[in-house]
Amino acid sequence: MPSTPISLEDTGTNPTTNRQFADVLAATLQRRQFLQIGMGLGAAVATRTSLAAAQQASTLTFTEVPHGLDEQFTIPAGYHQQILLRWGDPLFPDAPTFDPQHQSKAAQERQFGFNNDFIGFVPLPPGSANADHGLLVVNHEYTDPGMMYPGGPNAAELDRAFTDVDIAAHGLSVVEIRRRDGVWKVQRDSAYNRRITPLTSMQLSGPAAGSARLRTQDSQDGIATFGTYGNCAGGVTPWGTILTGEENVDAYFCGAVTDSEEAENYARFGMTLNERSWGKHYPRWNLAQNPREPLHVGWIVEIDPYDPTSVPRKRTALGRFKHEGCNVFIDPDGSVVAYSGDDSQFEYLYKFVSAGRYDPADRNANFALLDEGTLHAARFEDDGMLHWLPLVHGEGPLTDANGFHSQADVLIDARKAADLLGATPMDRPEDVEVNPVTGRVFAMLTNNTKRTAAQLDAANPRAQNGHGQIVEFWPASGRHTDTVFRWELFLLAGDPRTESFTAYHPAISANGWLSCPDNCAFDRHGNLWIATDGAEGAGVADGVWAAEVDGEQRALTKRFLRAPVGAEMCGPFFTPDDTTFFCSVQHPGQGSSLAAPSTRWPDFDPALPPRPAVVAITREDGGRVGS
Ligand code: FEO
Ligand code: CA
Ligand code: CA
Ligand code: CA
Repeated sequence: MPSTPISLEDTGTNPTTNRQFADVLAATLQRRQFLQIGMGLGAAVATRTSLAAAQQASTLTFTEVPHGLDEQFTIPAGYHQQILLRWGDPLFPDAPTFDPQHQSKAAQERQFGFNNDFIGFVPLPPGSANADHGLLVVNHEYTDPGMMYPGGPNAAELDRAFTDVDIAAHGLSVVEIRRRDGVWKVQRDSAYNRRITPLTSMQLSGPAAGSARLRTQDSQDGIATFGTYGNCAGGVTPWGTILTGEENVDAYFCGAVTDSEEAENYARFGMTLNERSWGKHYPRWNLAQNPREPLHVGWIVEIDPYDPTSVPRKRTALGRFKHEGCNVFIDPDGSVVAYSGDDSQFEYLYKFVSAGRYDPADRNANFALLDEGTLHAARFEDDGMLHWLPLVHGEGPLTDANGFHSQADVLIDARKAADLLGATPMDRPEDVEVNPVTGRVFAMLTNNTKRTAAQLDAANPRAQNGHGQIVEFWPASGRHTDTVFRWELFLLAGDPRTESFTAYHPAISANGWLSCPDNCAFDRHGNLWIATDGAEGAGVADGVWAAEVDGEQRALTKRFLRAPVGAEMCGPFFTPDDTTFFCSVQHPGQGSSLAAPSTRWPDFDPALPPRPAVVAITREDGGRVGS
């Protein structure tokens, strides 16, 4: 989520500076095996000289889309784009047609929500690898009322009726889709279709469930809870459930903090009270009336998309922070290892290791795997080692003396626990995914303009980092349950012509550089696909870039598509056969006004606002996307 009038910046609230290095940058770049360190204009020269040779051997043979910034969504020649789902599209036979002048709670609860972010595709029938039929599960991260209703209110002015619409535009959508003759179609009459909103009945599970701190006005037992919001990225588990990350959840509360016991915890969480309307109309989001409600959000929520009556579970064992998303990997011994980033400046990377083992033959047994296990935070050493620090009550500093009276306390205040353990404050960790071919983990670090020269370390080697980097880490033994990994920088983003320090493959074209990596996906060949949020700050549209991760072409990023002006790209996800690439265009036209939007994508209808939408991209010849 970028900065907007209604969504607060991902600014840091971490007071710790665990390590400081005056000149770690030089050491970082010397140790790492970059093929090219951009140093001003020198990189551009190197790029031109070796481009032809590099392209010959590339397995990513699509024709690069040039940099640019305009109203359109631009894909490579030979590809086809289909607008699959837009904000307001009806999801049920009885859903009304989208009418931005007359939206209602009842209508929005039956329509596709706003600001689509994460996309997961799970095949139908369940357990198959069908690439032509399945369920699309999509996060609706947040809203921007000032860009939604022509002539309507902005976020702070929403009356109760508009607030109800606003609430219903959050959450997730589950939508059955089917491909026939190369065209995807939404199955509006599907029994699988579901809207999940901030009002949907859910349960807290795992070690923090039932904690006295989680007892609120709406939850007498600290287990019952309602809904999810601020859902940014996520993941699909091998047992076919969806993990959705609750990220900027603090942006929904108003009122003064009256619970002194939580005041410090809220400060560390980055709670910043705001003008949003939810708390004005509902005590649930007013801290003066319901001081502990924020503790019900900031979790990973597991949803079974195949059962529209299932009760989503908030998996407290994975910790409470501003989760970007969550992706799991099955270790060779069957342990489930879940990786997640905390997206704020100077926050941490985490992994969870399950106590139980994955059973591919017993789907229901896997539903409990994320309730019991050990959460760890990452400490990146300058020598290329990565230590995973366990967040276990009673171990090390996580004791009563430091305010941790139970494992519930450790998980609810995971950031504070990780501070005490000495985790490495990162440059805003976003998506974290495991490469299905190499088993190596890639973390997108989007940017951190607040980092100073005194706060550099080898994994976060640039001050005033406006462009971000990608870090790769892996267990030398191949076992993700290990507490010691190795790590390496994959690339340092930014425009090599203007940034002092960037790092890419030397043969990137003039369009190959990117800025602000956010979400990512791997195709079945292990190529990394990177979606950005903030490239407009470097003068070009956000979009998607693809790169190989090994061999001669490692980190040779190529621009695959360009988002419309004002939009960030999110949600990249492939069908099981790599022939469709789904992606999310979020907040097109942001930064302009509804009266004169910078784009009216995707409808280009003067009566309609620009709309966030999911796009399905295929090759015209039906082949594998990328090649
Ligand atoms: Fe919602 Fe981390 O972007
Ligand atoms: Ca982002
Ligand atoms: Ca994001
Ligand atoms: Ca992803």
